[in-house]
Amino acid sequence: MSGGATIVCEGLVKIYRIAGRQVVALQGLELEVAAGEMLAVVGPSGAGKSTLLNVIGGLDAPSAGRVLVDGVNLNDFSDSCLDRYRRERVGFVWQLPGRNLIPYLTAWENVALPMVLAQHPERIRRERVTELLAAVGLSERAGHIPARLSGGEQQRLALAVALANRPSLLLADEPTGELDSATARDIYRLIRSLNQTYGMTVVIVSHDPGIAHVVDRVITIRDGKISTESRVTDYALEITEQASSIAEPQVTVEELTVLDSAGRLQLPKELREDYGIGDRVRLERVPDGILVRPVQQTRGKNE
Ligand SMILES: Nc1ncnc2c1ncn2[C@@H]1O[C@H](COP(=O)(O)OP(=O)(O)OP(=O)(O)O)[C@@H](O)[C@H]1O
Ligand SMILES: [Mg+2]
Repeated sequence: MSGGATIVCEGLVKIYRIAGRQVVALQGLELEVAAGEMLAVVGPSGAGKSTLLNVIGGLDAPSAGRVLVDGVNLNDFSDSCLDRYRRERVGFVWQLPGRNLIPYLTAWENVALPMVLAQHPERIRRERVTELLAAVGLSERAGHIPARLSGGEQQRLALAVALANRPSLLLADEPTGELDSATARDIYRLIRSLNQTYGMTVVIVSHDPGIAHVVDRVITIRDGKISTESRVTDYALEITEQASSIAEPQVTVEELTVLDSAGRLQLPKELREDYGIGDRVRLERVPDGILVRPVQQTRGKNE
């Protein structure tokens, strides 16, 4: 058992420069992920989800701000420390199975490879490959190359590979993007059960709103910042008549808007449109909170 890493992102900014143009992918993003937590990241295309994962995983350096993993700033790592961090403390699972697996190695060899690179002795490797293939339900497929596995099996194998070095953090970028929804749900549940067995912290990017059923918390990123956060507030497993089958858990998800450390919050586009809100609002104190009222627009710059 490796336990999970604590992740803190402070004021993360990532600016890409392409052909003289700047793209701001992260705009002062703040995030804390508790050790062992399973967090889902959702949001529109281009919002900065993959960028966030790459920065947390040490694959890309932020333009400003920092990521602390168990209190240690990734910016302070030397190149060789960063290499070890990526290889041994983080497990990655990508959307395309081809990016996760070596096509000419068997399932067994794919899981063993990260341990060979980390120079773990043969005996440990054998034990762990056996254990991980069983954990993802692929013991019977150990001798198959990826092309002989289904899409869902390939992603299960990718999970076993990602966990080979017992990482304290698992980062998954749309790991079910290529799968049908039933298979996707099985993969989510598998990730949840691996999270519970091994205790690693999990950050999973998804387009699937159903992800809320299996994770501790969902954050929505818009324009490079966290705009809302949802937590399951009430969780009831409904056991059906047949003793063996368990229905979808009935969950109540509460969505909260996130303020950054300076107190800024984002009003979602739909709400701004519904209420005709432009670039100014009036805040009113009311007995049980603060009311945001639209104000008339079209004012001159100097007013
Ligand atoms: N390597 C790069 N070079 C230049 N721009 C980039 C690069 N990577 C991402 N971007 C830009 O940064 C912004 C955020 O991209 P990112 O890939 O993080 O979004 P995403 O939320 O993962 O989107 P999707 O849901 O489509 O995967 C986008 O505008 C994207 O075009
Ligand atoms: Mg992406």
